[in-house]
Amino acid sequence: MSVDLPEFDLESQKSVPFDGKFLRPSALSTAPNPEMPLLHAVCTRRTSRAYAKERVPKHVFEWLIKYAMHAPTACNEQQWKVVHIDDAAIIKEIYERGGAAFLKKVQHCFLVCYNRQSDNLEWDDHIQSGAAFITTFQLLAHTVGVGSCWVGHLPNKRELQRMLKIHRAYEPIALVTYGYYRSKVNMLPRKHDVERVLMENEFRQEGLNFKKSIRRTTVRTVGRFIYYKIPPALRKRMRHMTVPHEKKFYYETFD
Ligand SMILES: Cc1cc2nc3c(=O)[nH]c(=O)nc-3n(C[C@H](O)[C@H](O)[C@H](O)COP(=O)(O)O)c2cc1C
Repeated sequence: MSVDLPEFDLESQKSVPFDGKFLRPSALSTAPNPEMPLLHAVCTRRTSRAYAKERVPKHVFEWLIKYAMHAPTACNEQQWKVVHIDDAAIIKEIYERGGAAFLKKVQHCFLVCYNRQSDNLEWDDHIQSGAAFITTFQLLAHTVGVGSCWVGHLPNKRELQRMLKIHRAYEPIALVTYGYYRSKVNMLPRKHDVERVLMENEFRQEGLNFKKSIRRTTVRTVGRFIYYKIPPALRKRMRHMTVPHEKKFYYETFD
């Protein structure tokens, strides 16, 4: 079957205001558009780490969770648990124990947990199911003017499990911060084109590009392992020293 499919065009799409350089998804906060074409939602969503002061009302958050639950799950088990966190002391604690620095300014976030009792451990089914949920949430949230950030820069899972009293059968998958968009979004192009990513029938070895040096990655991995093994009380006292080593894009906002 051969049908023509539309191409996405940033300039001509009308779902999210665009001024030629910046996208302004904050307009969607007051004029939500959950029925925008899926292609527009996919192509205009970008991670947001800085949010408006106004909190996202509970009913809006619940609406997002309700529809994010249409995400696929392994064996259709639908075994998510979402721990919503709006207690400033808990968010501060996660930051101080080594969570991403921008958490300091976040008013609410949630931890996605998924039941790890799967017979397909090889493929980490539970992680994949949790990831699909987060992706769906982020797309839906974007259409109603709610920006979000998927956060894996966190204290160790065991520590979070203890802090938030998570049942041992459930694994924390990732934290998601969210809030009404505040800043403009710079529409950086994607890094690769389809030809580079798509392979037919087997993995094509030529042209692979390992940008990061293995040595640097190893040093960072070991450093990270040791850092998160430090007792929380001491780690909290050291927090100000580790912030400058976080990735620079954490601070990108365009207010
Ligand atoms: C598994 C995963 C973990 C991530 N962890 C973090 C994080 O700890 N801190 C952060 O600021 N962004 C995090 N992100 C967001 C990415 O940085 C972001 O998706 C990426 O820079 C691409 O930007 P975009 O979402 O605007 O396309 C994470 C994303 C994924 C999928």
